[in-house]
Amino acid sequence: MFYQPALRDHGLRHDPFKALVAPRPIGWISSLDAEGRANLAPYSFYNAMAADPPVVAFGTTMRPRESVHKDSHANIEATGEFVVNLATEALREQMNASSASLPAGADEFAHAGLETAPSRLVKPPRVAASPVALECRHLTTVELPCDTPGRANYAVFGRVVGIHIDDALVVDGRVDILLSRPLARLGYMDYTVVDNVFAMDRPG
Ligand SMILES: Cc1cc2nc3c(=O)[nH]c(=O)nc-3n(C[C@H](O)[C@H](O)[C@H](O)COP(=O)(O)O)c2cc1C
Repeated sequence: MFYQPALRDHGLRHDPFKALVAPRPIGWISSLDAEGRANLAPYSFYNAMAADPPVVAFGTTMRPRESVHKDSHANIEATGEFVVNLATEALREQMNASSASLPAGADEFAHAGLETAPSRLVKPPRVAASPVALECRHLTTVELPCDTPGRANYAVFGRVVGIHIDDALVVDGRVDILLSRPLARLGYMDYTVVDNVFAMDRPG
């Protein structure tokens, strides 16, 4: 089959796009609003964009009904800081609970039953139970095209300035990611877990 996203002519019950760019890591983003209230939400349009220095980015839409920025986006524009926590299989229910559309200023850490841990270089707290956290300073936001009137899409970029790794993940000087079992997003309501690894040498 072939279809053009702008024409939405895939003929399927659900738009298949997100099932095709998969698996996507989940950036579990903590931030503070201008009054210092904590916020936490998962974003699966998320990835690393560079390593030296490390840069991450996540994609965010506007809230469809109110036509306002999501809280994570608004908070990062207001304060310039965020933390990306690793969403693991063990934390999947809390990750999902933190995606609830709570009123701005409501604390998804409390809503999801999660403890916070302090960050070192930025103000937003970390998810204490998450084994990896990237402390980020906002770099730039790019507005992306949007085919639905009244909505908007953005990519928010952050420079990673501090990295927390649970020492239990470090084995023989390497991070053994299988010990943390990261969660990743597929299409529809589907997820997967990183539970196997294989290595390949690059051609010389
Ligand atoms: C696994 C998962 C991934 C998500 N990925 C995105 C995403 O990439 N972009 C987005 O705008 N919303 C995404 N959402 C929805 C947001 O998490 C949801 O709108 C949330 O309420 C936003 O919270 P905030 O307003 O506190 O930032 C995702 C939800 C889940 C459960």
